[in-house]
Amino acid sequence: MQKILVTGGAGFIGSGFVRTQLRDYPDQHIVVLDKLTYSGNLDNLKDLDQNRYTFIQGDVNDPECVGKALEGCEGIVHFAAESHVDRSLSGASDFIDTNVGGVNTLLSQARELDIKRILLVSTDEVYGSVLEGSSVEDSPIVPRNPYSASKAAGELLGVSYFESFGMPIVITRGSNTYGPYQYPEKVLPLFISNAIDNEALPLYGDGKNVRDWLHVEDHCSGIDFVFRKGEPGQAYNIAGENERENIFLTKRILSLLGKPESLIRYVEDRTGHDRRYSIDSSKLKKLGWAPKIDFDEGIKLTVQWYQENEWWWRKIKSGEFKAYYEEHYRKRLEESTSE
Ligand code: NAD
Ligand code: TYD
Repeated sequence: MQKILVTGGAGFIGSGFVRTQLRDYPDQHIVVLDKLTYSGNLDNLKDLDQNRYTFIQGDVNDPECVGKALEGCEGIVHFAAESHVDRSLSGASDFIDTNVGGVNTLLSQARELDIKRILLVSTDEVYGSVLEGSSVEDSPIVPRNPYSASKAAGELLGVSYFESFGMPIVITRGSNTYGPYQYPEKVLPLFISNAIDNEALPLYGDGKNVRDWLHVEDHCSGIDFVFRKGEPGQAYNIAGENERENIFLTKRILSLLGKPESLIRYVEDRTGHDRRYSIDSSKLKKLGWAPKIDFDEGIKLTVQWYQENEWWWRKIKSGEFKAYYEEHYRKRLEESTSE
């Protein structure tokens, strides 16, 4: 494919995908469509050759804008989304507009065009909390918070466009992703940057919720495999195969930074906090994919990246983020306990 549209390409994983695509496909041009919401950031694309991509600021839920962005594109990789569970618990309407309405607008604009492949980026969170075993692609979809419900709705809409109109849609369900350029509301960059500043790390509940950690480069290579080799109408899990309790991850961050465990604060839990996510990616492995980045090494490199790139996250943490942090964490931290 000579030209593809990447929505949400100024976000964390989307910018990682643009970076790895430009590296791996020298003849490919990328159109990035991104609204630049609070988590979108052109700094994420700063190191890339501007001749290789075209940036359009706009909303995936705006038909005219999507139509313009799609001109001449042969494929679509759709990342654009409201992505943070905690924000979805404070108000879900932006999640519905973008994660459901945006998929509808994008697919209805693409319907009349000759698009070879459309990939909808989804999440392992659509399976809900999985206390035992691992979800496969046919496992029940039981999202338990507004973010994951909106992602599940977007996916189902995608399947309906495949069934109703024969559109070449594939879906990926990736695990919790970590790496450079992640907005510091998510646990890893939040805890790393707080620890660098000797600030408290607000751990929800008992700290024993389990997430499966997937490096952003492995997530992007999984998406690339499905985009090029996946079967239309199918979903594919992308697992990191690194399930860890949050407390383990927190202690690892502190130890890598040489900071004391007394920075850990146990705070009021997230409501409806999913206990564990676990997915099986045998189906994707049959296409030839495997995660490459070892967890210990990946975490070490990620901590180092945030240490070396304070210019990137300090700007963010002194902006919109400050009010969010105050609103979401102040009371929690006042009432927190240590171990
Ligand atoms: P992010 O919040 O860093 O990036 C989202 C991007 O989408 C931002 O650049 C934002 O400006 C853009 N955007 C938001 N609303 C838009 C709109 N209406 N129109 C155009 N652009 C819009 O999120 P992320 O972590 O990079 O997640 C990207 C995708 O991957 C999402 O679909 C998310 O559900 C999925 N995902 C994320 C994870 C994870 O751990 N971060 C795991 C699995 C799946
Ligand atoms: P997060 O990065 O928000 O991703 P998700 O909710 O999509 O899994 O959270 C990852 C885990 O870390 C999750 O179990 C919630 C927990 N967490 C905390 O303990 N404290 C925090 O301040 C945040 C943001 C998350």
